Amino acid sequence: MSTTTVTGTSGEDRSDYTRAESKAIRKRSLRLLGSLVTPVRAQLWLAAIVLVVSTAFRVAGPALIAFGIDNALPAAVEELNWLPTIGVVALYLVTGIAGASLIGWYVVVAARLTQAIMLDLRKRIFVHTQRLSLEFHESYTSGRIISRQTSDLDSIRELLDGGLNELVSGILYGGFTLVMLLLVDWQSGVILAVMGIPLLLLMRWFYTRSQVVYRESRVVSAKVIVKFVETMTGIRAVKAFRKEVRNDREFGELASDYRNVNMRSIQLFGTFEPGLMAVASVTVALVLLWGGIRVVDGAIEVGVLLAAVLYVRNFFSPLQEVAFFLNSYQSATAALEKVSGVLEEEPTVPDPVKPVDLWTARGHVRFDDVSFGYSKDRVILPDFSLDIPAGQTVALVGTTGAGKSTLAKLVSRFYDPSEGRVTLDGVDLRSLHPKDLRRAIVMVTQEAYLFSGTVADNIALGKPDATMDEIRAAARAVGADAFIERLPDGYATDVNKRGGRVSAGQRQLISFARAFLADPAVLILDEATASLDIPSERQIQDALQTLLADRTAIIIAHRLSTVAIADRVLVMEHGRIIEDDAPEELIGGDGRFARLHAAWRESLV
Ligand SMILES: Nc1ncnc2c1ncn2[C@@H]1O[C@H](COP(=O)(O)OP(=O)(O)O)[C@@H](O)[C@H]1O
Ligand SMILES: [Mg+2]
Repeated sequence: MSTTTVTGTSGEDRSDYTRAESKAIRKRSLRLLGSLVTPVRAQLWLAAIVLVVSTAFRVAGPALIAFGIDNALPAAVEELNWLPTIGVVALYLVTGIAGASLIGWYVVVAARLTQAIMLDLRKRIFVHTQRLSLEFHESYTSGRIISRQTSDLDSIRELLDGGLNELVSGILYGGFTLVMLLLVDWQSGVILAVMGIPLLLLMRWFYTRSQVVYRESRVVSAKVIVKFVETMTGIRAVKAFRKEVRNDREFGELASDYRNVNMRSIQLFGTFEPGLMAVASVTVALVLLWGGIRVVDGAIEVGVLLAAVLYVRNFFSPLQEVAFFLNSYQSATAALEKVSGVLEEEPTVPDPVKPVDLWTARGHVRFDDVSFGYSKDRVILPDFSLDIPAGQTVALVGTTGAGKSTLAKLVSRFYDPSEGRVTLDGVDLRSLHPKDLRRAIVMVTQEAYLFSGTVADNIALGKPDATMDEIRAAARAVGADAFIERLPDGYATDVNKRGGRVSAGQRQLISFARAFLADPAVLILDEATASLDIPSERQIQDALQTLLADRTAIIIAHRLSTVAIADRVLVMEHGRIIEDDAPEELIGGDGRFARLHAAWRESLV
């Protein structure tokens, strides 16, 4: 994925971080985790307490069995006193049932906790990415932002749902078991502790190896996804240039790489699991052997030996789950790192701290000594000044890359100038209240996006409380009513349903209606008629006269015919205005515009 690096640390999904960067990223993740956990502190404590108590109940079993065999049962055999035995059995049942019920409760508490955290995080990611400025969205590819909301959230959920439970309860259970074993028979406890050394080595080997394999698998799986998404997004170009066969081969290679790396990870488990079993068996055998010798000597009773063996077995049983968890832990930390990166990204175009209200804008736009570049090393608009009086219709022409759209984006405050200021009615756009800014300045671009919903909903975007009559009037004003009436359900047609699909030109007419309904003081059209055919454009031009009356307008047009309705024409070149006059004057002169216009006239005949 190639993107420009204008964003901060989250700008790239890299793996070659310096030590300081890694530390900052870890801190960032922890901060996020902290902020997620704080609101659910109480539930977290409850879950912890329930877990500790239930674990205590669960580890009581073998000790009770030992007592039963060594003390209660002899009483029944020798004195026909069944009372102790019944007592032990009853106690065993009670602890078993209590432990089980508590675990059931714990599962519910933990699930509620997880879901609360997930809900919070999911909403935060959406709200935050939506709030981020255009600069972020232009550099952070949509594929990456989608994985933040989908696969990253999934790995975090997996960790919280399963992995973390396994680890915490596994460690707790192991710890309690070891303590009980030391209490029941300390010598077996020592054997288990000594066998802990090969166990630790084995776990460490598995952890480091799986980390390597896991990282590889993540890189390869990302490649598989990117290849797939890229091919499908560019499917028209793929088909037009017959790239299918090459794609098939390339995708096949990536997919088999992915299989290979998955095989390696499975092989790793194939070594780890038998290793774990071997360590467990040896430990049990040693405990049994040493315990057996002591039973023969009369140093310990049979019940104690049985309890010791049971404890050793129980100690090993959750370890496999813990190992499984290590992988989900890794993917979750990676996900948390990336998500926290997005969440800590600040909007480059921040809302004003002390917003200035502008209840009725007149539409006087000024650029005061503005300089602007998308990155520090390349200035697009050097020292730019421009005054557009309220109500003027300005046509902006110039070659591709001259900076016309950039100028439009500055007026709409999608970006802020690096130096100087852009003002509306004398108010710096940076201090203008966002609601006033959005109401006063509307930009219509080539890319007329329709959201799911009806045609009427889409027009009403410009004024959410508009009545049906107002919507119709707006459509009529821009000449969109004719085609809308012909749609299967007219204004109520769903734009995503079959039959509701509209052409690029029709989409533009809808977005004009949207702008008309919004009724802004300043209207910017950035090549907004590019997808229209000549008759529709003629029609739009009539409509434009109505649309532009009484408001400031900046029209960036690639067809020079549009220029006719302008009061003033600006010719732009390399971020500067090189000609600025009334259209008649420019056409009559001998400058750049006159030549362009002459060439255009010729192309028409
Ligand atoms: N998002 C962006 N990031 C970096 N550079 C950009 C971006 N958008 C435009 N540019 C650069 O700014 C210059 C002016 O672009 P633009 O204003 O879109 O030109 P025009 O609309 O006149 O064709 C171009 O050289 C282009 O490469
Ligand atoms: Mg442009």
